[in-house]
Amino acid sequence: MNETIPQLLNYDEPSLDAAFATLADEVRAETFSPRDAEAFRLHWLGRKQGRLKLISDAWLKSAPADARKPLGIRFNQLKQQIEVALAAAVAAPPAASAKAGLDITLPGSVRAPGIPHPLLKTMNEIVAVFHDLGYSTALGPQVESDFYNFEALNFPPNHPARDTQDTLLLAGQQARPSRDRLLMRTHTSPVQIRSMIAQAPPIRIVVPGKVHRNDAADATHSPVFHQVEGLCVDTGITFSDLKGTLDHAMKALFGSSVKTRFFPSFFPFTEPSADVQISCIFCAGAGCRRCKHSGWIELLGCGMVDPTVFSSVTEERRKLNPAADAYNPAKISGFAFGMGVERIAMVQHGISDIGQFYSGDMRFLEQFA
Ligand code: DAH
Repeated sequence: MNETIPQLLNYDEPSLDAAFATLADEVRAETFSPRDAEAFRLHWLGRKQGRLKLISDAWLKSAPADARKPLGIRFNQLKQQIEVALAAAVAAPPAASAKAGLDITLPGSVRAPGIPHPLLKTMNEIVAVFHDLGYSTALGPQVESDFYNFEALNFPPNHPARDTQDTLLLAGQQARPSRDRLLMRTHTSPVQIRSMIAQAPPIRIVVPGKVHRNDAADATHSPVFHQVEGLCVDTGITFSDLKGTLDHAMKALFGSSVKTRFFPSFFPFTEPSADVQISCIFCAGAGCRRCKHSGWIELLGCGMVDPTVFSSVTEERRKLNPAADAYNPAKISGFAFGMGVERIAMVQHGISDIGQFYSGDMRFLEQFA
């Protein structure tokens, strides 16, 4: 830095211009990092020893009266140039600090620990409740045949009961016999059929899985969603067993003070069939917005396995062993149930939009960590 005070002998305008151009060059030549900005400011603008003050004192002292104004204007311009240089240095991107090396005051890059998705968590909870009762897990394909998804479950071809499940069919299946045509499974119930064909009673299974329907997405519907199915077949299984099992499961999931009630319903593969409702966990049954002021929340479907289902299973088993008689309704009986995982998770957590589960929004997902 130049600490000498330049001489000014001539006060005519061209001499002033030349002298100030030299000073302006001097300012421009001084590059500095944000860290040095204060030193730069003191050097040029310091109130007592600043270069601008010293030069203006020296030059104004010997200036003729009519040169004072043009001098003052030029000092102001120079001061502005210095201030602009200062502001630019402070606002500049931290290229200079990268040059200076590692800045340990910056936040580090943090990798958040992974957690199970809330749907998976709820699905695992449901499955665990039934594992504790001695059930095992069974799985089946998402691309399913008409036979397993509908026919064997007592939805005959063209029967109006099929209208309750708007189905996504695979293309190019018309040439096949109707029972072999492929579709995206609309529920986890076909795994009941697959399991009974593969295995004689007693049978106790839970079936978690993804299902598909041709439904428009809204706050409570998604074309892809999840279910947990259950099936219990043995000698002497009654509706009381069904009630006791599901009452226990609902208490395990929602707390021991929850009450259940069974409402007559219809499913082709169960007779009798019921919808299960729990007392509203938000208002304890008093009535609120979430239970539509009824005090009850409908959560799942269930019923006693229809003998027609056992007949379909027996017919298939006889193709492998003509003497197969294990699913004779005179000897055995059973119950089944199916629940939507999204629906259960929404009630558990008070979530009102199903779309949140699929949004991938970290602000939503982090709440389940
Ligand atoms: N599969 C039915 C559905 O998706 C739900 C269901 C109801 C399953 C009753 C069952 C049952 O096993 O017994 O709507």
